[in-house]
Parts: sequence; C-alpha cells; structure tokens
Amino acid sequence: MVGVSGAAAPARPVEIDFAGVEKRFPTPEGVVHAVAKTDIQVRQQEFVVLLGPSGCGKTTILRMIAGLLQPSSGTIAVAGRDLWQGSRRDSQALAELGIVFQDANLFPWYSIERNVAMPLELRGVSHRERMERARALCDLVGIKGFEKRWPRELSGGMRQRAAIARALSYDPEILLMDEPFGALDAMTRDTMNLEIQRLWMIQKSTIVFVTHSIAEAVFLADRIILLSPRPGRIRSVTEVTFPRPRDMVVQTQPEFQDIVRHLRGELEDME
Ligand SMILES: Nc1ncnc2c1ncn2[C@@H]1O[C@H](COP(=O)(O)OP(=O)(O)OP(=O)(O)O)[C@@H](O)[C@H]1O
Ligand SMILES: [Mg+2]
Repeated sequence: MVGVSGAAAPARPVEIDFAGVEKRFPTPEGVVHAVAKTDIQVRQQEFVVLLGPSGCGKTTILRMIAGLLQPSSGTIAVAGRDLWQGSRRDSQALAELGIVFQDANLFPWYSIERNVAMPLELRGVSHRERMERARALCDLVGIKGFEKRWPRELSGGMRQRAAIARALSYDPEILLMDEPFGALDAMTRDTMNLEIQRLWMIQKSTIVFVTHSIAEAVFLADRIILLSPRPGRIRSVTEVTFPRPRDMVVQTQPEFQDIVRHLRGELEDME
C-alpha cells in the first residue's frame, strides 16, 4: 500500500509490553468483555495511535498501561518491569508515566503554574525549583505569561496545553494521551497536533495516543493500531512513514489520503 512501509521499525527496546491482555468488567447486569486477548508492543520513542469505534476499549487499554486498572488476564510490562505483582502495583514502573485525558482536569482553585507543578509538589520538589520548572514548561507548550492565571481564564486549547505541561513536568518516558484534543475546534486541534509532534521530538518520549479522528491518527502516528468493536481486538496495524517533522500540508498528499481512505473503509466494514 502506498505510503505504508513494509520495512521493520528501528529496533529500539520494547517500552510497553502488553502480552495476552484481556479485560472483563463484572457488573450487576453481567460481565462486560471490554478487551479481548491482545498483544501490543510499543518501542521506546515510538508514537503509537489507538484508533477504533466508541466503546471498543481504547480508554480501558490506556488505563491498564497506566496501572489504573488491572487486566483480567495477561501481563503488562513497562520499561522491562511487570506492572503487577499479584494484586500489587509496581510503583517504580508507574514513575515513568505521564497521562493527559480528554478534558484538561486542572484544579480550578489553583493557578496554572501550581497545576503544572502539582506532580512535582507531590514528589516533594522544593517550591523554588518547581516554579522554575513550571515556568519553563509553560513556555515550552506555548502558554508563557499565563502562569498566574486561573484555569477558567484560559481557552480550551490553552487548558489542554497546561495539562500537557503538567504531564511533562517530571520528564516521564511515556506519555499516555486519551483523546486529548477531542473537545477542541479543528484549527486549534491542528495547532495542538503540530505542538505534540514538536514536544515528542524534543522530549524523545514514547507516546500512546487515543483518538477517534482518522486524519489525526495518520498525521501523528508511526504506527496506527486499529481496534475492532467490543471486545476490542487488533483489527489491523498500519505503519506511517512520512518524514518528520510533518506539517499540515502532508494531509493533501495522495499517499496520506490513501491511508485515510483505507482506514475509513476498515472502520465502516466493522459497523
Ligand atoms: N468500570 C467499568 N465497568 C463496566 N464496564 C466498563 C467499565 N469501563 C469501561 N467499561 C465498558 O468497556 C467498554 C470499553 O470502554 P472504553 O471506555 O475503554 O471504550 P473507548 O474505546 O475508550 O470508547 P470511547 O471512544 O467512547 O471513549 C465499554 O463498553 C464500556 O462501557
Ligand atoms: Mg475512551
């Protein structure tokens, strides 16, 4: 297929290893089988996008990688360490993770800088050091000058930038992003997509990014994992090899549109 390379990805070490993972939720109405037995390997510094219909288990997979949910079966290793020892979580493995959710989830009663520095505050970093770091991060994500403002004084896009700054505050090796730009208008979303690519290239982190948007997936990803409807299982894996940094013009290339069309076809076939 055009624009999709058969070449093997560079052999970086595996950062997230999801082996035979399955998730069932017991509920009063019966068991919800959210994620079918799945194997996913994400390599260091890879940008992987999970794409799939609503309810197919994307958030569940992300929450399991984050150690917020325990799989019903299978194992998850992060940076070579098992996330779970029986029903106990490995706190060391979790130290590598930063998470950004669909809505920014800022504390409304704290300033932007305090929000951004919150993970450092929780880790006991001194006031002076965390305020310095918060200012540098606000600059990095493009909200310089808004450090002292309240979340309600910022636009949705700026709040999302603050949430990204917060997730970056302790230099996590892995960023998990659950539809972080889903609530933004199309133009702001384009800007944020460029921004996240830029940050990822600077920080050299590993990203697992969930989206509903096919174009966003193709723009951002090294690899797109398309999931089937519930119980989620891997339907296809698409490597995207456009050179980086990509700009929005890449979306007008026939190869880009071919991949979008192909993925849309696969999604429609599942309906
Ligand atoms: N705590 C829970 N208890 C019971 N069922 C759950 C729970 N969490 C998720 N589910 C169910 O598991 C399935 C997968 O949910 P999940 O939130 O992972 O989907 P998703 O792919 O993120 O959907 P969306 O694109 O709408 O965000 C859904 O059917 C959901 O109702
Ligand atoms: Mg979700």
